[in-house]
Amino acid sequence: MDLAQYLQQLKAPLFWIGAVTVAWVSLCTVYRLVNGLRVWVLGNGTLIRPSKLGKWAVVTGATDGIGKAYTEELARRGFAIVLISRTQEKLVEVSSAIESRYKVETKIISVDFGSTDIYSKIESALAGLEVGVLVNNVGVSYSYPEFFLNIPNLDQFINNMININIISVCQMTRLVLPRMVERSKGVILNIASASGMYPVPLLTLYSSSKAFVDYFSRGLDAEYRNKGIIVQSVLPFYVTTKLSKIKKASLDVPTPEHYVAAQLSTVGLQSQTNGYLPHAIMGWVTTVLLPATVLNKIMMSMGLSQRARYLKKQKQG
Ligand SMILES: NC(=O)c1ccc[n+]([C@@H]2O[C@H](COP(=O)([O-])OP(=O)(O)OC[C@H]3O[C@@H](n4cnc5c(N)ncnc54)[C@H](OP(=O)(O)O)[C@@H]3O)[C@@H](O)[C@H]2O)c1
Repeated sequence: MDLAQYLQQLKAPLFWIGAVTVAWVSLCTVYRLVNGLRVWVLGNGTLIRPSKLGKWAVVTGATDGIGKAYTEELARRGFAIVLISRTQEKLVEVSSAIESRYKVETKIISVDFGSTDIYSKIESALAGLEVGVLVNNVGVSYSYPEFFLNIPNLDQFINNMININIISVCQMTRLVLPRMVERSKGVILNIASASGMYPVPLLTLYSSSKAFVDYFSRGLDAEYRNKGIIVQSVLPFYVTTKLSKIKKASLDVPTPEHYVAAQLSTVGLQSQTNGYLPHAIMGWVTTVLLPATVLNKIMMSMGLSQRARYLKKQKQG
């Protein structure tokens, strides 16, 4: 058989492979577009209401940044709020402001999530409350990107970060989920980070702790979804807070208020979300378009230059 005959024979199968591929890609694109419209344009703005979920919302790390924005937005929607954070004066200040502005009940619990012996205190304070929403928001990061072995007070740093970023999420869920399951309703929002979607060198412990939160949330969501509970993994990129050290908001770095308003519309529509459209596009570019090895190299070089800038500033005093 000469080459021309051979190609002639391949024509029909190649045509069908091409046609099926084009149909498949078009279907996926239409599905993505419709889904995108549903999440980012229509949203699910009415789900997070006390009438649908229960009277109380519990927020950890409630006195600053993203946690404070959740506290305010949930109070605005009529939830009574339990604020859990470290500094008593900030708790009093934020809870009084919320009570007088939104006319809702509040309760404050002052604990340090760096310790692990705090959960019986939290359990007693939550006893008897009908908790409809739990926001596991408290979290800490590095003060600057650093090689694992060069992190100052590494032993203490490891314990603190794991207790705050991981243990708090598991323990708070242990305390709140049983009564949600009894009532067959409830929403748990676990604030992970985009740094948990792929390894971020020089922030390795933070990035790994957030990957844990993401897996924990998605696993639990699958376990309890048919019992009426939504557990959502929330993976923000930068938001203007004390933790990110970014003060000026822009399209890709929203304020906490702007971020939280957008994020709450995704609840019930996505079990894993970047929470905010520009962040979702960034998440897609970094995880779908870029090969993992290239992304890893880019992250390492960004970390190295941030680290160099920080250390230079420190030297200059
Ligand atoms: N900001 C971002 O760009 C960004 C991006 C991705 C993910 N996240 C995640 O979003 C969450 C909130 O971050 P954020 O930027 O809003 O942080 P933030 O502005 O630093 O606020 C942290 C909150 O947590 C409390 N807190 C900190 N350490 C605590 C401890 N040991 N015990 C009890 N409470 C403690 C703080 O209260 P005190 O002031 O009283 O200590 C404050 O209310 C974190 O899980 C973070 O990893 C943030």
